[in-house]
Amino acid sequence: MSDDDVSAHYTSGELLAAIRDGVARLGKTPATVTVDDLAPVDEFHVGGRQASEHILGQLGLTQGQHVLDVGCGLGGSARFAAIRYGCHVTGLDLTEEFVTTGQVLCDWVGLADRVALRQGSAVAMPFEAEAFDAAYMLHVGMNIADKDRLCEEVHRVLRPGASFGIYDLMRKGEGDLAYPVPWAQTPEISVVSAPQDYRRALVKVGFTVTNEHNRGEFSREFFENLKARIAKADGPAPLGLHILMGETAPQKVANMTRNIRRGTLVPVELVARKVG
Ligand SMILES: C[S@@+](CC[C@H](N)C(=O)[O-])C[C@H]1O[C@@H](n2cnc3c(N)ncnc32)[C@H](O)[C@@H]1O
Repeated sequence: MSDDDVSAHYTSGELLAAIRDGVARLGKTPATVTVDDLAPVDEFHVGGRQASEHILGQLGLTQGQHVLDVGCGLGGSARFAAIRYGCHVTGLDLTEEFVTTGQVLCDWVGLADRVALRQGSAVAMPFEAEAFDAAYMLHVGMNIADKDRLCEEVHRVLRPGASFGIYDLMRKGEGDLAYPVPWAQTPEISVVSAPQDYRRALVKVGFTVTNEHNRGEFSREFFENLKARIAKADGPAPLGLHILMGETAPQKVANMTRNIRRGTLVPVELVARKVG
């Protein structure tokens, strides 16, 4: 699995135009659209904004801190964190199109001075040691084979005592996963690990794990509500994750629901603290 395979999976080439079109269909313009309006398309993880609020709420973020969003995608959670906690956020992501589009979205909502997105890899970060006061990573680890290296890099760029929040889809039970899923069309770029594998990697590099939450119940409710909304709606919403998932969006959502219902996959939160 190469970085190019992963970023190719997430690249459409038409993302900004699709979001601009969705914003117009909402009756808004780049000058009037808000961070909340964009949340249905720029928070690419199970539970969207609600899930971001839940994990970020456990990191003790405060005004003026410099926070790292690992695998930020379009930076929706980064913009939300900047507004909610008054912090500065740097987002790092492998997919160039997400980074450039996300930076335009920062301009639209007037947050370009507090949120900066950069292209790069989570396993070789272009940052100084101890540069950040906290970090979080939402639905990214499923594309990263070397969890030890990932945790080592996050540990390096955090100051001692800083928190690292992870919200990833993790392996719970036995059995094959159904593909495509939102992070991978086929198993080649998918490395779904168990919570104990994340814990092991975190502890090995010098974190202590302080919280673990199984978000299975929350995710089942999220998918039931999504199904009900889709059944009632007259076509897709102007802004939604279908824009990011492309033509295979219905199969990806169906497979996610199936994998979670079968108990092979579950969204899990882990919160760790850098010892020292
Ligand atoms: C499902 S999306 C989640 C995006 C964002 N965290 C969110 O919740 O909206 C997964 C993201 O991880 C990024 N990614 C995958 N592997 C990465 C790596 N090695 N380094 C940085 N980003 C990576 C992808 O480019 C993609 O944007």
